[in-house]
Amino acid sequence: MQTVTSADELHAVSRHWRQQAQRIALVPTMGNLHAGHLQLVRHAQAIADRVVVSIFVNPMQFGPEEDYAAYPRTLEDDSRALMDVDADLLFVPEVETMYPEDLANAPYVEVPELGKILCGKFRPGHFTGVATVVAKLFNLVQPDIAVFGEKDYQQLVVIRRMTQALCMPVVIVGVATVREDDGLAMSSRNRYLTPAERATAAQLYQLLCGIKSDIEAGATDYRAIEQAAMSTLQQAGFRPDYASLRRASDLAEAGPGDSELRLLVAAWLGQARLIDNLSISIS
Ligand code: PAF
Repeated sequence: MQTVTSADELHAVSRHWRQQAQRIALVPTMGNLHAGHLQLVRHAQAIADRVVVSIFVNPMQFGPEEDYAAYPRTLEDDSRALMDVDADLLFVPEVETMYPEDLANAPYVEVPELGKILCGKFRPGHFTGVATVVAKLFNLVQPDIAVFGEKDYQQLVVIRRMTQALCMPVVIVGVATVREDDGLAMSSRNRYLTPAERATAAQLYQLLCGIKSDIEAGATDYRAIEQAAMSTLQQAGFRPDYASLRRASDLAEAGPGDSELRLLVAAWLGQARLIDNLSISIS
């Protein structure tokens, strides 16, 4: 596996691969890789000839009070894990490569509406930061395919919308969430949980599964289900931001005519903001 830090080196390698008609997949990450990320790499390997993994803790997607400084940076371990799964190239840009100008004056990509609901409401500017950095990574790597985890479902929908609206020639692929044995979705932020909080955290997934079976069994009052979910989370010791039933395709509020739904939840437990979601199909 090659590791490159400069845009020029990256361009040289990706140009060479493209000249050989090799399909390139990009797996963008912020590092601190876990089994969920490695699953994205394996999926990318199955559908492309070459796999580029980027590791960049993107300052633009963190709010001023958020964990940018504390976000775990574990490059040596990450690099070893990527070698073990045989990734082709690791791209680790400096902040100056991604943002040559002062962050406050940097041009950005905004996805209206979609970027402002759900997590976007509680993390203003977050999805602008995500869309901007992903657009830059697409320009740098010029992949045919980009692979993202479904754990960040809203992020996946935002990136799909951006790619389509800006005519970016990149196929966006979502990969199912990888979970711990008790159902907790794998996340770099799970390390912020104390042992007691970690034991409670699995209740998030249990709640999602319970709601999914209720709806599949015929429950239809979605707003009442959302309110009940908020209360259940509060009683279990979470500080929920939202629990929401949405249309899977565009994250509009789910209503009676919708058959493909997504149940999305964000809730704080101690210092960790946990997010999770499940798909629900109504036949
Ligand atoms: O999902 C993430 O880790 C990040 O939001 C991403 C897509 C790498 C952009 O910084």
